[in-house]
Amino acid sequence: MKDIITLGIESSCDETSVAVVKNGREVLSNIINSQIKIHEKFGGVVPEIASRNHVEAISSVTKQAMLDAKIEYEDIDNIACTYGPGLVGALLVGVSYAKGLSYALNKPLTPVNHIEGHIAANYITHKDLEPPFLCLVISGGHTHLVHIKDYYNFEILGKTRDDAIGEAFDKVARVIGLGYPGGPKIDKLAKEGSENIELPKTHIDGLDFSFSGIKTAIINLHHKNPDINKADLCASFEKYVTDVLLDNTLRAAEQIKTNKIALAGGVSANSYIRQKFIDLEKQGYKIYYPEPVLCTDNAAMIAASGYYRYLANDTADLTLNAIPNLKIN
Ligand code: KG4
Ligand code: ZN
Repeated sequence: MKDIITLGIESSCDETSVAVVKNGREVLSNIINSQIKIHEKFGGVVPEIASRNHVEAISSVTKQAMLDAKIEYEDIDNIACTYGPGLVGALLVGVSYAKGLSYALNKPLTPVNHIEGHIAANYITHKDLEPPFLCLVISGGHTHLVHIKDYYNFEILGKTRDDAIGEAFDKVARVIGLGYPGGPKIDKLAKEGSENIELPKTHIDGLDFSFSGIKTAIINLHHKNPDINKADLCASFEKYVTDVLLDNTLRAAEQIKTNKIALAGGVSANSYIRQKFIDLEKQGYKIYYPEPVLCTDNAAMIAASGYYRYLANDTADLTLNAIPNLKIN
């Protein structure tokens, strides 16, 4: 079969990224222009600033992705872009650019759901991974337990009812003075602490998640006792949320009768969470997770997901619009 080359475009939040991926699994280039430094001083992503920076970056990021991949524009078979969920102004930059390329090159346009992109990052790292499996998507904007029935057939088994897990990491870090983005900072500091701080039980029954209660509990502990050891606080917070993730994931795996569990999204780069999931291999589970650069936002994962959409003939025309609150499936 002829190789299929996908150009992926991602601009849903604060990373402008363009990638070239062969046959959905082999990354020829993956350029990520992060705006973290720009948003850092505001303590979080400022949507208007994000959109403007995407506009400034997208052409040069695309050129670099093409150069690194060592291909010509006519070698591209399809153009995949994130059209939701995300910040509407940010998404529109990638969608408009993708539509322009699709029109100018006369190549099909495949719209990709950002969360499905995170899931597809696993196909790049694990060449042998195929559906069905269970995926725990944990990112700055999402916390979902998804039954991947096929490459483009998903069932959500559980999701957060309030904060996404990454949001909880970021808010806790901001309040205790670690800065933005908080996830990697908590990850690092927690290694120096112990899990000895007792925390109230705030999780809920079933397969859904709730992280706002534990976030508030940690913030209150810090406010009541500003001298509390921050490393211990981070370690205790990480243990608490990891126990909740493990508990829900194992019950979901039991429900759909699978031993294949994949992690996805920015928070799956967390070293403590990864290790606890890897430990499940001793109990007979097969654990998959993307390499760190593919956990956080990137266009290679969008191209991987777009490839499978392209194979299914799920393409869009030039009326494609950004959908900020797009759901899976
Ligand atoms: O997937 P992502 O790049 O963006 C969304 O789609 O939301 O995830 C970003 C989130 C942020 O909340 C960030 O703090 C978190 O992922 N994150 C981490 C780590 N690295 C990134 N959280 C915990 N530990 C990490 N090592
Ligand atoms: Zn993301």
